[in-house]
Amino acid sequence: MLIAQLTDLHIKPSGRLAYGVVDTTAYLTAAVADLTARRPAPDAVLLTGDLVDAGRPEEYARLRALLAPIRCPVYVIPGNHDDRAALRAGFADHAYLPKGDGFIHYAIDDHPVRLIGLDTTDPGEAGGNLCAARLDWLAEQLARAPARPTILFLHHPPFPTGIAHMDKIGLIDPAPFAALVARHPQVERVLAGHLHRSIQARFAGTLASTAPATCHQVALELEPEAPAAFYMEPPGYQLHLYVPETGVVSHTVTVGRYPGPYPFRDETGALID
Ligand SMILES: [Fe+2]
Ligand SMILES: [Fe+2]
Repeated sequence: MLIAQLTDLHIKPSGRLAYGVVDTTAYLTAAVADLTARRPAPDAVLLTGDLVDAGRPEEYARLRALLAPIRCPVYVIPGNHDDRAALRAGFADHAYLPKGDGFIHYAIDDHPVRLIGLDTTDPGEAGGNLCAARLDWLAEQLARAPARPTILFLHHPPFPTGIAHMDKIGLIDPAPFAALVARHPQVERVLAGHLHRSIQARFAGTLASTAPATCHQVALELEPEAPAAFYMEPPGYQLHLYVPETGVVSHTVTVGRYPGPYPFRDETGALID
């Protein structure tokens, strides 16, 4: 099974640039074109939050149009830039989304890997939270299928990254979540967004990671007092390949055109010297 993870799309209304600089629509268009041209094609796409920039209905409408070329199931969770009600309305035809106005969390049992989407958002807050109610729900879900390989995906990563201004708006108290995950070895991975770059950490007996954004990347700045900033580094997304014998292997895709492919060997089979 091949799972694509696109994150932090930050779609704006027509004619608006994110932070006055970033044409997030053009970047997502390029990422979707890269994704849909890949062979083998992904079996599922996870969008790990900050789907749009300001939770506006028109932004979700624009996002839906941009995602239209994707032929496999797409699973969405909110980030701190999203709005639950507008997200639900924008994805009203996505039957897996829970009804009502509560947390947007769900488990998908249709694939070789069980996919559990979590909602770390608290309205009006930039930081993330997995409160007792959300953890109780997750505990019940994990207890239902202890033998099925499972990926958890959420917006806020459950570990501090060393990028101080982002850690200030990280997941509040990840310890109870870590304790729960540690009791469930079927959890193959914990996939997050929010950081706008690729970062990995050992977490609760598994591996937790963040993926590059499809648009702008948060500055790799590990000085505690460094100001919050971003760069237009090459954008990307990740491909998580699940093979039963080996588990999940993750690749970071860089979106864009680069010289190549070049051969290693000449027509006689010798390495080119
Ligand atoms: Fe973001
Ligand atoms: Fe975020």
